[in-house]
Amino acid sequence: MGHYGDLQTQIYRDGLHGVLPDYPVDFATLEERAQNALSPSLLNYVQGGCGDEHTQRANVSAFHHWGMVPRMLVDCTTRDLSIEFLGLTLPSPIFMAPIGVNGEMTQDRRGDIAAAEASATTGVPFCASTLSNSPLEEVAQAAGPTPAFFQLYTPKNLELAESLIRRAEAAGYRALVITLDTWVTGWRPRDLNAANFPQLRGKVLENYFSDPVFRSLLARPPEDDIAAAVEAWTTIFGKVLTWNDIAWFKSVTRLPIILKGICHPDDARRAVDHGVDAIYCSNHGGRQANGGIAAIDMLPDVVKAVGGVPVLFDSGIRSGSDVIKALALGATAVGIGRPYAYGLALGGAKGAAHVLRSILAEADLLMAVNGYPTIDAVAEASARETM
Ligand code: FNR
Repeated sequence: MGHYGDLQTQIYRDGLHGVLPDYPVDFATLEERAQNALSPSLLNYVQGGCGDEHTQRANVSAFHHWGMVPRMLVDCTTRDLSIEFLGLTLPSPIFMAPIGVNGEMTQDRRGDIAAAEASATTGVPFCASTLSNSPLEEVAQAAGPTPAFFQLYTPKNLELAESLIRRAEAAGYRALVITLDTWVTGWRPRDLNAANFPQLRGKVLENYFSDPVFRSLLARPPEDDIAAAVEAWTTIFGKVLTWNDIAWFKSVTRLPIILKGICHPDDARRAVDHGVDAIYCSNHGGRQANGGIAAIDMLPDVVKAVGGVPVLFDSGIRSGSDVIKALALGATAVGIGRPYAYGLALGGAKGAAHVLRSILAEADLLMAVNGYPTIDAVAEASARETM
């Protein structure tokens, strides 16, 4: 059986023939190359965050104060990175976090399709954003047999919300991820200084423009009057959700419901009491609130609060070692965000797949070296605070 870590042998062997990897295997080099590949406005949008960006830096640096204790004399010649999640057996414990500007990350503006193709080739599930350059049906198709999730930005118009959910069900998505922290956009100085907000320029709105309910609200179709369609979108985006809304979601869909943005243990407990299927602990990569606490530092209390209900995690994952630490702190599965987006920018589906494979290779080799043959063993090893 092959292992994710075999990628390293392949890279070294290729090197014997003078062949270097097409894309970087580490985040720092990846980001540096993406900086050169992206337009300044798109780079700002992806790389930037809220306020002085302290939170997004903390998300990353906080991983340095968690460490793993190695275990020796354990046979790790075979590693199993698979996990069970919502009745699915997934080959690895990572997934692709929803990124609403994926569509713009490739020159052909079909980056959502490229991301889904990377999912198809790696088996890493893709969480498709509501904000997309390609309709969710096409994205689901491109993901092939790999299970995909649909992330919903709940519109104020519930008929439209229901339409998007029905479309996601019909397209075969396996779970509904409801993002809670983005009914309004956080204060993002980089984008503000450049006066750039992609949606207002008519970008990434195809799920709305292709929706029969949204179209029925317009005097003329988006193809004929894009400005009016964008204006309609601005008035409809972003319902303020409260706990009372969870019953509505449960009444309209049988898809498992995952709440994204839960960071407080009381909210996690309450979400479980409301019957949600999984919690998604994330601070949106520091893009929404500059609250100051790293997401990884909030994860252990959330996990403790929910008594075995699955907990997804993202925000600050840059390497395979970060993935292992998040699993050791109780995450069921770990979301990769900006790194795969940069992979898309450098090489479309191939670039994104390379980033995911590199992260998995590092995680696998850390498990091999540290004596954790399975994800359960990672969870048992736990992570220690180093300061
Ligand atoms: C996001 N994120 C996001 N989340 C979401 O629920 N729906 C979305 O459409 C988007 N869009 C989006 C765009 C960009 C450019 C970024 C960087 C992020 C948040 C995303 O799902 C995830 O929470 C963060 O990316 C995690 O932070 P890091 O690890 O990427 O820094």
